[in-house]
Amino acid sequence: MKPLAIDEQRLQRKIDELALISENPPPVVTRILFSEADLRGRTFVKNLCRDAGLVLREDAVGNIFARWEGTGKNLPAVATGSHIDAIPNAGKFDGVVGVLGAIEAMRALKAAKFQPERSIELIIFTGEEPTRFGIGCLGSRLLGGVLSPEKAASLRDRDGKNLEEWRRHGGCGGTLDSVRLPKNCYSAFVELHIEQGPILEEEKLSIGIVEKIAAPGTLRVQLTGVGGHAGGTLMPGRRDALLAGAEIALAVEKAATTTGSPDTVGTTGVFRIEPGAVNSVPCRALLEIDLRDTQVATRDAALVQIEKAVAEICQRRKIEFTSERLNLDPPAICDSTLVQTVSDVCRKLGISHRKMISRAYHDSLFLAQICPTTMIFIPCHKGYSHRPDEFSSPEQIETGVRVLAETLAIAANR
Ligand code: GLV
Ligand code: MN
Ligand code: MN
Repeated sequence: MKPLAIDEQRLQRKIDELALISENPPPVVTRILFSEADLRGRTFVKNLCRDAGLVLREDAVGNIFARWEGTGKNLPAVATGSHIDAIPNAGKFDGVVGVLGAIEAMRALKAAKFQPERSIELIIFTGEEPTRFGIGCLGSRLLGGVLSPEKAASLRDRDGKNLEEWRRHGGCGGTLDSVRLPKNCYSAFVELHIEQGPILEEEKLSIGIVEKIAAPGTLRVQLTGVGGHAGGTLMPGRRDALLAGAEIALAVEKAATTTGSPDTVGTTGVFRIEPGAVNSVPCRALLEIDLRDTQVATRDAALVQIEKAVAEICQRRKIEFTSERLNLDPPAICDSTLVQTVSDVCRKLGISHRKMISRAYHDSLFLAQICPTTMIFIPCHKGYSHRPDEFSSPEQIETGVRVLAETLAIAANR
């Protein structure tokens, strides 16, 4: 194979163009699953795949598969991919680097006259971000058989609109039970992503190779108190849903900082109140709590502590509540052979690297259920992510794409 020429400038242009497809003006990127921006983003990426000569198919939840057919048509393919949906007030690199970078990797391999034996398939996963339905990795959960079609069908967004309605709006045909993929339908899955943490930059390293993905969990708590006039309702006897929620958010912080594990993190990222009027006592509150750890035991200990706090606070404040565990996933252990392959590629290319844990979750968490999986991380400025000033340089991205391309080439021909 000829040396690979990665077109760093074209890739950067495409990243910039996709960033403009957003529900908010630049530099903010917001592309909530199945919003008009998300649908336009999907069309944009599908066109790039067609231009790169890839063959497209879509499944019933909108996962997009773009395939470069190998000579061994019956062999399990090698897969790569990530997502293009973005949380509110996000940046332009999360997920996107792994999608547009994979297209560029395949273009470079094609230009170098590489001939894959196994097909190489790019997957653009539906709804990696949890914004619409409260759980992340919707598409990859269904692919991995971790979420049942029945449970998926019952998901509703905050306006009560369900997945069925949204996926029809998104033009997805077929039934959800057709999404699941059999075990080992891919021989490998490798996801390129920004680190979303500061380690690579601090250690001045170009590549992180993921050995483990931390275990995420999400709790949804709904509180119902009693509203009323902010002037006319005297303080004794108030049943203010916001104040109960505030205590719960503090209990989350306490639980996450007292497990004894430095890896436990807890975030109350959603806190909505009703009616949301300055002169009205909040009668309802919705909290969504994100809890993670590299170890299930400490994460779950924090979870139980939070659930006890919710019950105690609500009893004391005479607030009715429901508490629902939306997801509690185990960590993923990456495939040691693939980790070694990426490490060998870095060594061969003279690229500095280290092994690491992913504290963010990714579609890889669920692909790891069905095939050997790892991830390639590139540095991002100060570890910033899920914010508009998220940044990785064109050179850092180019290095990631090069390592991805070389890894895919090895995996496709073994
Ligand atoms: C993914 O976006 C995560 O929240 O880890
Ligand atoms: Mn994200
Ligand atoms: Mn991501």
